[in-house]
Amino acid sequence: MTKRSPPPAKKLNAAELMDWIEDIEQRAMKAVADVQDADGLASQTAVFLGRGGELNRALERLVDLAKPERAEAGRRANQVKAKLESEYGRRREEMRAGMMQAQLQQEALDVTLPGRPLVRGRIHPANQTLRQIIRIWAEMGFQVYRSREVETDELNFGLLNMPPHHPARDMWDTFYTTNPQVLLRTHTSPGQIHAMRQRAPQPIRVVLPGMCYRYEQVTARSEIQFNQVEGLAVGRRITFADLKGTLTAFARRLFGAQVATRFRAAHFPFTEPSAEMDVECFVCGGVGCPVCKGTGWLEVLGSGMVHPTVLNNGGYDPALFSGYAFGMGPERLTMLKHRIEDIRYFWKNDLRFLEQF
Ligand code: PHE
Repeated sequence: MTKRSPPPAKKLNAAELMDWIEDIEQRAMKAVADVQDADGLASQTAVFLGRGGELNRALERLVDLAKPERAEAGRRANQVKAKLESEYGRRREEMRAGMMQAQLQQEALDVTLPGRPLVRGRIHPANQTLRQIIRIWAEMGFQVYRSREVETDELNFGLLNMPPHHPARDMWDTFYTTNPQVLLRTHTSPGQIHAMRQRAPQPIRVVLPGMCYRYEQVTARSEIQFNQVEGLAVGRRITFADLKGTLTAFARRLFGAQVATRFRAAHFPFTEPSAEMDVECFVCGGVGCPVCKGTGWLEVLGSGMVHPTVLNNGGYDPALFSGYAFGMGPERLTMLKHRIEDIRYFWKNDLRFLEQF
């Protein structure tokens, strides 16, 4: 890097000053050509063109000269100064542009690259079936009715014709809260009472989907939480034929138009008579296999004619009104449909399971 030359000790004559100016020009032009970066350029600018720089110091020596020589040397010095200023400026601009270019290249954004695909979420298999069930019932004129998951003992059992200590309560192992009158609903059936009390004496066609809870050992076949879809139709002259016809129509929409169904007598305290509906095993076509445990049939729901006591509790006169109700489990139906062997997969949150649906 060019260092400042020491100030001349003695007075200069015109020729010496002129030489000095020419020398400054040459060295400064070489320096500006040699600099590698902006810092180097800045320091060379200071050396030659700065306030205490060499050119200014040469200008100061103009006083040593006689007038006519002084004018000429001054003109020459100013020429050199203008030339150097423009050259140094040009280099500064060149470097700035170079740096900008380098930066642009480094930070280059290729807008033609395809974007990163978003990982799409999906609907949980239980909810897929739930929606499918709701869609079918909606097509058949059933409204969706939601009701609470935390219930009273009265609604979950009492008003459904199971007074305290009724042995049928044993069918539903129950999560009680610290208040023995408050529990997690063991089925969606208390929603029947809510719907009836809100609608009586109007006719009703509703489905009630939602989560239920049972205080059970978790095994491949039973979970402590699961969805149910309850159905309820109340009106005048509703018969068991309506129940069978409607549930059969539902099964055909869910499992296919050819599916065979059968009704088996069952018992629920809140329906009379009660029946469970089976569909022909779609794994073996009814011949008998491990999925249907050799029977050729798969149980898909519980149902029955709403018990007169329950109708009455809902605000309907059982002499004038009748109705049917049913309840099914979307997880169970999903298991049958996809031959899932363990119900615990549903809430395990294992993507290897969930991503298959
Ligand atoms: N609530 C019953 C259960 O959880 C199912 C059911 C609903 C049966 C409606 C008949 C009528 O097992």
